[in-house]
Amino acid sequence: MTCLELFSGCGGLAKGLELAGFKQRAFVEFNKWACKSLRENFDPSLVHEMDVRKFDFQSVGDVDVVAGGPPCPPFSLGGLAKAHEDERDMFPEAIRAIHELRPKGFLFENVKGLLRKSFADYFSYIILRLTFPDCSIPQGMTWRKHLEILRKINPQDYGGLRYDVQYKMMNAVNYGVPQNRERVFIVGMRSDIKVEWAWPSPVPGKRTIAETIGHLATTKKILLPKDHVIVSGAREYPGHSGSNYNAPSKTIKAGAHGVPGGENMIRFPDGKLRYMTIHEAKLIQTFPADYEISGSWGEAMRQIGNAVPVRLAETMGRCMVAALSGNGSQSLPSDGYGVAYRCSPVQLRLAIEKRKKYKGSTATKAVAKKGATKPKSKGGKRVKRQKSVKAKYAKRDV
Ligand SMILES: C[S@@+](CC[C@H](N)C(=O)[O-])C[C@H]1O[C@@H](n2cnc3c(N)ncnc32)[C@H](O)[C@@H]1O
Repeated sequence: MTCLELFSGCGGLAKGLELAGFKQRAFVEFNKWACKSLRENFDPSLVHEMDVRKFDFQSVGDVDVVAGGPPCPPFSLGGLAKAHEDERDMFPEAIRAIHELRPKGFLFENVKGLLRKSFADYFSYIILRLTFPDCSIPQGMTWRKHLEILRKINPQDYGGLRYDVQYKMMNAVNYGVPQNRERVFIVGMRSDIKVEWAWPSPVPGKRTIAETIGHLATTKKILLPKDHVIVSGAREYPGHSGSNYNAPSKTIKAGAHGVPGGENMIRFPDGKLRYMTIHEAKLIQTFPADYEISGSWGEAMRQIGNAVPVRLAETMGRCMVAALSGNGSQSLPSDGYGVAYRCSPVQLRLAIEKRKKYKGSTATKAVAKKGATKPKSKGGKRVKRQKSVKAKYAKRDV
């Protein structure tokens, strides 16, 4: 099954959908660091670094599903909460994509602020626009007037493109993600293909931070991943007390006002508090251990904090595949949670090596740039490779 990913961020939703069996046709995202991350982890030729408002959806051709995370700021409880008056509201673009591409289904994710009482009318408007995507708003008409018109449509008499739309607030911690993260998911299935959508069942048990990142504490320094670099300066202040090591994480935040990730701290049983490393935040968001996130710590934390946890995205993707292929609902096996997203240090090192080889040794070039000594040819290829890995990791401040 094929998919178009809008507002892709660094690709949390996209990666989950890929793991569920979707083949991405295109990514549209305008943040340069998020695009860099996408290019590191997916086919770079599919990444369109541009404003969705200028994107020609027809250029993608047929897709089974349109997915994405229309920007959250208009609905964020911590933001200015202006919704439809905010030009960052990208739902009109998501609706344009559905109208033009007529996919079999769609999947959108957003912050829980979308369900605020004060936004109830605008949220109904979004749902009705997604239900009847051909009913565009006439020039000059207010969305409230348009809402009145949409509310009067009788689905039985309506012959145009129509979707059966459902929404639900889901907490990622109930789906194998070691993080309390409540987000609203909106799912639509084209009504003419008559498929049944079923939400995934929660998996029993809640994963903790300790279960997710505990292996790093006992990993040899030279084998630690390159994005596990401790950042100093964490301190507690009202409302920001960090997440307890032996519990699921609090929501990893993208942050605002230039301090992304300021709240993303771990409180250890001995009372010590420190920021999560990029690698830890990535694992808590259930990204694969070798997933590359580009940019500085702050930039990477912003991308990670914006992402849909990969495992939850995969769960939703599997349900989409099950519904669209007529196999009924299907969620992830309850005993498998997290396993696919953690690997041993040795596996991780091999994965990094494999990636280096695949990319024509870009990582080796980076090490050479930093002045790391090149391995001398004392033995065969294997010895050389081990030495380059050692040189790379020995220099890291972990
Ligand atoms: C909530 S994040 C999406 C996260 C993504 N679903 C994931 O799982 O990683 C929203 C993204 O939309 C992007 N964005 C916002 N407005 C955009 C626009 N007009 N065109 C393209 N991208 C946009 C932002 O840069 C941000 O990365």
